[in-house]
Amino acid sequence: MKRKDFFKGTAAILGSLAITRDLKPAELGRWLLRTAGDDEEYFWKLVRDQFILDPDWTYLNFGGLGSCPLPVLKSYDEWSRSEERAPSAGHDEKEWMSVKEKMAAVLGKTCRKEDLGLIDCASAGINMIVNGLPLKKGDEVITSTHEHVALHTALLNRMQREGIVIRVFEPDKASGRTNVDRIAALINPRTRLIFVSHVTCTTGQRFPDKDIAALARSKGVWFAMDGAQAPICVPFDIGETGVDFYTCSTHKWLMGPKRTGFIYVRKEMLDVLRPLTVGAGSNKSYDIRKLEFTLHPTVQRFEFGTQNDALFYGLGKAIDFVTTIGTDRIWKHNHALAERFYAGLKEIPGAEIVSPEEEVYRTSMISFKMKTIDYTKVNEHLAKDKIKVRTVTEGGANCIRVSFHICNHDGEVTKILDSLKKLAG
Ligand SMILES: Cc1ncc(COP(=O)(O)O)c(C=O)c1O
Repeated sequence: MKRKDFFKGTAAILGSLAITRDLKPAELGRWLLRTAGDDEEYFWKLVRDQFILDPDWTYLNFGGLGSCPLPVLKSYDEWSRSEERAPSAGHDEKEWMSVKEKMAAVLGKTCRKEDLGLIDCASAGINMIVNGLPLKKGDEVITSTHEHVALHTALLNRMQREGIVIRVFEPDKASGRTNVDRIAALINPRTRLIFVSHVTCTTGQRFPDKDIAALARSKGVWFAMDGAQAPICVPFDIGETGVDFYTCSTHKWLMGPKRTGFIYVRKEMLDVLRPLTVGAGSNKSYDIRKLEFTLHPTVQRFEFGTQNDALFYGLGKAIDFVTTIGTDRIWKHNHALAERFYAGLKEIPGAEIVSPEEEVYRTSMISFKMKTIDYTKVNEHLAKDKIKVRTVTEGGANCIRVSFHICNHDGEVTKILDSLKKLAG
């Protein structure tokens, strides 16, 4: 290690420790920028120092589950302690709304805090959408074969309960645009809803959101997206996509505490989607004697009952963290690592890339398989080298998915490629 690097490394550790004592996000941002100056590599090293990930492992699975940076852990700890010291029902409205305000700012220019509800996770949001829409027996829903179990099971559940009809298409990895044609081919007068991932959990493919939305609008069909893998992973403006309903787990790419997420409803669609579970928070007013009930006039109607406030205030700090670094900067960093990995895979004998062929539909998650080695064996091999990835079985993909996020660096791309070269012999 060079002397300069040693001092830099030491400064980073001491700096991180100082920050752990007083983690004000705005100060953290200024500290990161001031300390790193224009040294990009050093900047990302300082960012990595904000995580307690096991240093023995190379963690390439933020698409599976994120890790919270120190400011989030600290905030969660402090809010939990204050809650346990003086338990108090309800939540701090100002703080709660500030989380939605920050989330709306990340999601785009026209997104408003009123368009968002803070919920448990994408699975919860998917169920709110699938079950809350006024679908009846024989109504058709279009989805892909590459959806997460959360969406497939929610649709199958409604099919079994109420006889909706599910139509599926196989995503095309050669041409992103072909997916729109495949969806269009399934539309008929009984079609009511198109519900697909924004970014698939199988191959990290980004679906052409605006084109699907335009198709849906032209046919008078609702359009919902499962965004569990999208915000922060890919840049987009939710209003510009034209989606009607959207949900996300914020404990992955957004690095919020576990069991946090949101649901978005385009404002014109609010009264189309009925919450099936309601409670304190969902109502504007009610009176059991008069048998009156008015839902909350915003997407807050999907929030109900006692909340674990500390989780969501921690999420607020996670949003501060990503906006401090800059969502564009994160995308460029992560996508560059993913692209280097994608190019490297092409040089490995027997490696078959299953992620999209067109870069515009590729994200920061790349999936592959080895032609003659079962994907479970590839996973075992990588685990022996202490590299954590995710095996993908959804849609019969049977492959390995590798996610690149802000904790990762070029050396780790080299490490996984070297490990695969060793496996390929
Ligand atoms: C595309 C997609 N949708 C939904 C989910 C479910 O997320 P959760 O278990 O956080 O609800 C996942 C989780 O990996 C996912 O990748």
